Amino acid sequence: MKKIFATVATAVALCAAVSVQARPFDAIQKAGSINMGSEGQYAPFNFFKGKTLTGYEIDVAEAVAKKMGLKYEWKAVGFDALLTGLAQDRWDLVIASHGITPEREKAVTFTVPHYCSGGQIVSLSPSIKTAADLAGKVVAVQTGTSYLDHVKKVPGVKEVKNFPTDEAARAALGSKRVDAWVTDRFVAKEMLSKTPKAGFITGDMLFIEQVAAAVSKGNTGLADAYNKAFNELKADGTIGKISQKYFQEDVTCK
Ligand code: ARG
Repeated sequence: MKKIFATVATAVALCAAVSVQARPFDAIQKAGSINMGSEGQYAPFNFFKGKTLTGYEIDVAEAVAKKMGLKYEWKAVGFDALLTGLAQDRWDLVIASHGITPEREKAVTFTVPHYCSGGQIVSLSPSIKTAADLAGKVVAVQTGTSYLDHVKKVPGVKEVKNFPTDEAARAALGSKRVDAWVTDRFVAKEMLSKTPKAGFITGDMLFIEQVAAAVSKGNTGLADAYNKAFNELKADGTIGKISQKYFQEDVTCK
C-alpha cells in the first residue's frame, strides 16, 4: 500500500514538474504561435490603445515573433505577475520593461536588451532634483520595480510609497500626495511632452539599466532564437524605426 502511495506521489510530482516546464523553441515552432505577456500600463513602452496592446516593446516583440516565423498571442496582466507566470508556463516570453538585475537573473533568463535607460527623479519643484534632495521626502514608485529597490537605498528618504502601476504613482505626484516620483526617463519624457501644464520637472537619473525580454530560466533555445531575430532586425533598421515612432530618438543600447 505504502509503495503504491509512493509511486502515485512520484507520478504526481513528475506531472507537476513536466507541466511547469517551459515550452522549448521547437515545441513553440511546432505549435506555430508564441504566447507573450506584458502589462499594458506603461506608455510608451506597453499600453492600450482602445482594446489593442501597443507600444515600443509590443511592436518590437511582434516583429521578432514574425522574424522567428511565428504567430503570437498576448496576455496582459499586472506587472507583479509577469515573471512568476514564466515559471508557471502561463506564457513563453515576457516583455514589460524589466531591467536586467542579478536578483531577477536568478529566476529568469534575459534576452539581449531592447533599450537602455534608467530611473529618473520627477517632481513638481525645482528644489527636488537630486538624490540628496529626496531626504525627508515622500517618493512614489511602482511595486516590484527597480525604482523601488533604488529609492529604498537613497539615504534619508522619509517614505517610499508603492503603487500597483506606474500610472498610479504618477497620479500621486500629480495630485501632490507625494513629493517625487521615480520612473523611467523615457516615460518621464513622454509625460512632460504630453502634459506640459502638469508642471512636472525632471531631475537626475538615480541609476541606469539595460531592459530586456525574459523567458523562463534556462530556456536558452527560445532566448537564442529571439536574440538572433532581434539582432537581425536591429541591423536592418527595423528596431530603429520602431524606436523613432514612439520616442523620436533611438533608445537601443549603444
Ligand atoms: N524598468 C523598471 C524595472 O525594471 C520598471 C518596469 C516597469 N514596467 C511596467 N510594465 N510597468 O523594474
